[in-house]
Amino acid sequence: MTNENMNTAASTETQPSATADPTSEPLVEQSISVDNTSDRTTVDGETVIRSKDLDVFYGETQALQSVSLEIPENQVTAMIGPSGCGKSTFLRCINRMNDLIDVARIDGELTFDGKNVYDEDVDPVALRRRIGMVFQHPNPFPKSIYDNVAYGLRIQNRDVDMDAVVEESLKKAALWDEVKDRLDESALDLSGGQQQRLCIARAIAVDPQVVLMDEPASALDPIATSKIEDLIEDLAEEYTVVIVTHNMQQAARISDTTAVFLTGGELVEFDDTDKIFEDPESQRVEDYITGKFG
Ligand SMILES: Nc1ncnc2c1ncn2[C@@H]1O[C@H](COP(=O)(O)OP(=O)(O)OP(=O)(O)O)[C@@H](O)[C@H]1O
Ligand SMILES: [Mg+2]
Repeated sequence: MTNENMNTAASTETQPSATADPTSEPLVEQSISVDNTSDRTTVDGETVIRSKDLDVFYGETQALQSVSLEIPENQVTAMIGPSGCGKSTFLRCINRMNDLIDVARIDGELTFDGKNVYDEDVDPVALRRRIGMVFQHPNPFPKSIYDNVAYGLRIQNRDVDMDAVVEESLKKAALWDEVKDRLDESALDLSGGQQQRLCIARAIAVDPQVVLMDEPASALDPIATSKIEDLIEDLAEEYTVVIVTHNMQQAARISDTTAVFLTGGELVEFDDTDKIFEDPESQRVEDYITGKFG
């Protein structure tokens, strides 16, 4: 994307509730010593997001340490690691959600389609239209199902066939059949799993390039989780998906590439998911994956 596109694209995120992460859980530090670290930062595929020596601080606390990696386009990239290791922080850097945290400070480079998203001329609101986000707890607006999906397009005054886009987005989010006869009902009356798929429909209705998901299924039951997992795999045909998960089986099942963060915000290993789960380079990654800690 050119910078001009970023600046001229309209906003989808004017309501704070559309962007504010409602999950902010207490975080637990792990104390594990540092050993070898794989220096791989790329995998096969066209790079869409690239971080280079990315450091993030919250006041005095360093949350990410010199993270370099390249996220491939139209694939699912999973971010795993113990609580407090910086997964959400990394995700929030990608679409500048950390701008909303006063004490957050970022050093290094994070590029999207070759453009540093922290350059002064980048409009974060336009950036977030290209890089949508779905949170752990579904956060539909207190509006109808239809209005939730149409919301971003209306804000942008996009001249589209709204009915068609709403239907298509709900179909892509595997929710259409369940809601097609109740589009005017409140989104808040949907089940948690349906609300999460609605939030995914809302995110993709504005046709982003990337969808970030921070533990999107962790509040859901196994059936709803499996629907979301199937959906994520389908989405990757059209979008680049970056997902944070604590569920190793989920990461192994649905992702193509996996980044393992460990204590102190260090990216310890980044590789094809099969390699990470079957033959990781780092002993610490193997210990984490096999449940020896974390
Ligand atoms: N808003 C904030 N203000 C201050 N410190 C923060 C803030 N958000 C996160 N941190 C700190 O940054 C570090 C990384 O937090 P982050 O939320 O990125 O971890 P995480 O890997 O997503 O953890 P979890 O798995 O529990 O969601 C932690 O030490 C945390 O205490
Ligand atoms: Mg988190």
